[in-house]
Amino acid sequence: MMTDNSSVARPAVVYEKRGDVALAIIDHPPVNALSLAVRKGLLEALDSAARDDGVRAVVILCRGKTFVAGADIKEFGRPMEPPFFGEVIDRLDAFAKPVIAAIHGNALGGGLELALACHWRIAAPSARVGLPEVKLGTLPGAGGTQRLPRLVGLELALKMIVEGRPIGAAEALKNGAIDAIASGDLEADAIAFAREALSRENPLRRARDVTVAPDPILFERAEADARKRQRGAEAPLKCIEAVRLATELPFDEAAKREYALCIALLQSPQSKALRHIFAAEREVAKPPAAMAGAAPRPVKTAAVIGPGVMGAGIAICLLDAGFPVSLLGRSSASLESARARIGKIYDSGVTRGTLTAEQKADRLGRLKTTQSYDDLGDADLIIEAVDEDMAVKREVFRALDRVAKRGAVIATNTSFLDVDALARETGRPGDVAGMHFFNPANVMRLLENVRGAQTSDDVAATLMDVGKRLGKTSVLIGACEGFVGNRMLSKRSREALFMMEEGATPWRIDKALYDFGFPLGPHALADMAGLDIVLATRRARYDRLTPRERACDIIEQLVARGRLGQKSGAGYYKYDANRKSSPDPEVEQLLRDHAKARGIVPRAFDDAEIVERCVYAMVNEGAKLIEEGVVRRPHEIDIVWTHGFGFPAHKGGPMFYADQIGLPRVRDALRRYATTVGAEYFEPSPLIVRLADKGAGFYSNG
Ligand code: CAA
Repeated sequence: MMTDNSSVARPAVVYEKRGDVALAIIDHPPVNALSLAVRKGLLEALDSAARDDGVRAVVILCRGKTFVAGADIKEFGRPMEPPFFGEVIDRLDAFAKPVIAAIHGNALGGGLELALACHWRIAAPSARVGLPEVKLGTLPGAGGTQRLPRLVGLELALKMIVEGRPIGAAEALKNGAIDAIASGDLEADAIAFAREALSRENPLRRARDVTVAPDPILFERAEADARKRQRGAEAPLKCIEAVRLATELPFDEAAKREYALCIALLQSPQSKALRHIFAAEREVAKPPAAMAGAAPRPVKTAAVIGPGVMGAGIAICLLDAGFPVSLLGRSSASLESARARIGKIYDSGVTRGTLTAEQKADRLGRLKTTQSYDDLGDADLIIEAVDEDMAVKREVFRALDRVAKRGAVIATNTSFLDVDALARETGRPGDVAGMHFFNPANVMRLLENVRGAQTSDDVAATLMDVGKRLGKTSVLIGACEGFVGNRMLSKRSREALFMMEEGATPWRIDKALYDFGFPLGPHALADMAGLDIVLATRRARYDRLTPRERACDIIEQLVARGRLGQKSGAGYYKYDANRKSSPDPEVEQLLRDHAKARGIVPRAFDDAEIVERCVYAMVNEGAKLIEEGVVRRPHEIDIVWTHGFGFPAHKGGPMFYADQIGLPRVRDALRRYATTVGAEYFEPSPLIVRLADKGAGFYSNG
């Protein structure tokens, strides 16, 4: 038995024998990552197996919920202690007895590299294998980019490595990434496979001995695709470069270059940002310490009020997660059209092959429509998704208070209205909360779970539990107007309007933010949403706007001219029959006239000012959210913005980005804009000033 020197009490790798087959059993929770203890343990196990003449083959397998899920991410950014993972791989390469990887759960990153360096691979039917390093801003550094293409071909290897998406066992078997799927007990099947491998013609078959023919067109296509789909990200292009080496250089030379590329990327700001997002995603899923012990209420049945686009989208999320759903609407026509909309979305799933006809029938079979609140008495969770009109919502909450059973959780999907005011319409404010889905609800992964002032701990825990069951990335936040996402977005929108007034065209602003990494500029986005919708939101907040914000009535002017965005053929941009946008001189003239009427002399803008005014205004608001306790820490903000609002993940979210820029610089820029634009807009939040003054950041203590 190997001993383990790390703080983990039990051995990370256990060596056992089953007759002539040795087992190297990795047992290192939570995910059997390749920490120092595992690397050491594996080398010792291989040494033992090599020394023992009674051992003819070795099986590497894992205890717990998964095979090795990769290098230990927690060791990144620290000097790595030997033995390095490369030594384990080299040892496998030179091993004189067949080694079989027995995979269950996930073989990811270094985990798959370990398996690929073995001579054979067998997997449980539910296993997945993949090289997701690109999602952490790096690439496989232990031969993954060299061995995978040799086994599955260039095309699939490029797809798996550049997009970082794992494949299931059946696809892996079909393409040669694994050699067998276990039909019974994985351990027993792997041992049987090992014995059978001994009698094969080439029991020591090695991926490295295969050659891969170059395919320049495939690489060109992969590169063009990566530039388009993962714009601004460095790692995907480096992944392609590394795979290309497999076609150009001898294996060892290529593997050395691959490792160097991997290490360089690991030190890049983009990789740090993406690793931050990985950790933040897991951090926000954890309940706050104050809520420890609050168990989620059981939720078996759900109801949705409002059969509009949002209501139908939310119903789909619930149906997909297996809930029976009652959808309530005011008319049978609206309910029928919601059912048709849901059916159409499922049809397209069937056409694309992501859903079977049986699954579609099952989901639609669980959908009930009703016009009567009395039918909602069984629901454990009720989500209101009616129009953003407080009077209508108040009425709904009064009705729900009458019919909902005791202990039912009642949530509003409002994007900016007062959750506490709705809770007060009921005699059970502790059961009321917000669940803010994003449109299209069945596609967008983000869910803002909003605790009102009186929401009870177990209701908050229920929201997070349901969010997880829906497959959402949920954040738990406090109530305030616009919550995290829309409240910060409103500051960016304000600055975009102000800058248009001061001389920047919508396309100039859009380009700067697109180049920063947002998928769409704010004006292209507004045109997509519809300027009438944007105007309705502005009107709902009108009494809270400053005099300058009110006077900056560019949206009103556009809507008054019938420019409603894409749907009317013109908004900020003009659109051709294929909805292709182009700048419109009419809008430029409108902005010139507007500036003249407001006594503003238009001036030129550079990218830096546009980005700073938009992004720093958001960061400043984010700091206020922390100060007010709406969020517990910056993590929630970064997750909301990267998962729901297109902030480039490789910049880590607005708060992480601000730390990278340096809070003293952010503070100074805010002060500058406080002078030029107005203190009421840019006065740095006390938190930023305090942190910047002591050389700290949102995430660091200085
Ligand atoms: N290293 C260290 N810890 C890891 C880890 C890793 N590679 N992967 C997951 N964990 C930790 C998580 O941080 C989490 O810890 P906490 O409970 O303390 O938050 C715990 O394991 C459980 O993880 P999840 O909550 O994500 O559990 P899950 O069951 O939902 O998902 C998983 C499991 C699919 C393996 C998922 O964790 C995952 O995708 N992990 C990352 C895999 C990955 O990217 N591997 C490549 C790493 S890079 C590499 O291998 C090569 C290289 O050198 C560049």
